Amino acid sequence: MAPVRKLFDEDAVARRVGELSAEIATTYPPNMIMIGILTGAFVFMADLMRALDRLGLSPGVEFIRLGSYGHSKESAGEVRLLSDLHTDVDGRAVLLVDDICDTGRSLAFAQDLLRSRGAVKVGTCVLVDKPSRRIVDVEIDFIGFTVPDVFVVGYGIDYADQYRHLPYIGTVD
Ligand code: IMP
Ligand code: MG
Repeated sequence: MAPVRKLFDEDAVARRVGELSAEIATTYPPNMIMIGILTGAFVFMADLMRALDRLGLSPGVEFIRLGSYGHSKESAGEVRLLSDLHTDVDGRAVLLVDDICDTGRSLAFAQDLLRSRGAVKVGTCVLVDKPSRRIVDVEIDFIGFTVPDVFVVGYGIDYADQYRHLPYIGTVD
């Protein structure tokens, strides 16, 4: 494994997740549904849902799996739905949760999908935003950290299926 340079340590991530949950709780109903994008979002989702619980929300928790990246650092460009929801989101307030917004293709694809299924509100929340990489214009309602064009790993985020286990967020060259 290539060396990892630490960007945000465990305390910084925990603090930011707490702040995000407080923002989310002011704009979302208690019965909202959080939809995470696998695989990268699973650690963030686990912490975020428990932070929301502490604020009195009872969010539904669901995941979809999207494909595009494979084992490279560059997106293949086309997003596909690899694993679908098991819940009817018609009429529901939904919060899409992803690890990173890079080109914006994944979030835009997921947002279109959920709107087509009748979700009434489809907000977006990402742990890490890389705005300089954006290709598709997508609005992000809640952002954990904004970073320049670096490759990020840890806290669920991988490079070639490695580094997900790290409890902090770092970068590899
Ligand atoms: P987008 O569709 O280009 O916005 O890419 C979103 C997905 O690409 C994220 O959900 C990540 O899984 C992956 N990705 C983008 N940038 C990085 C990175 O720096 N490290 C690891 N995965 C990344
Ligand atoms: Mg992802």
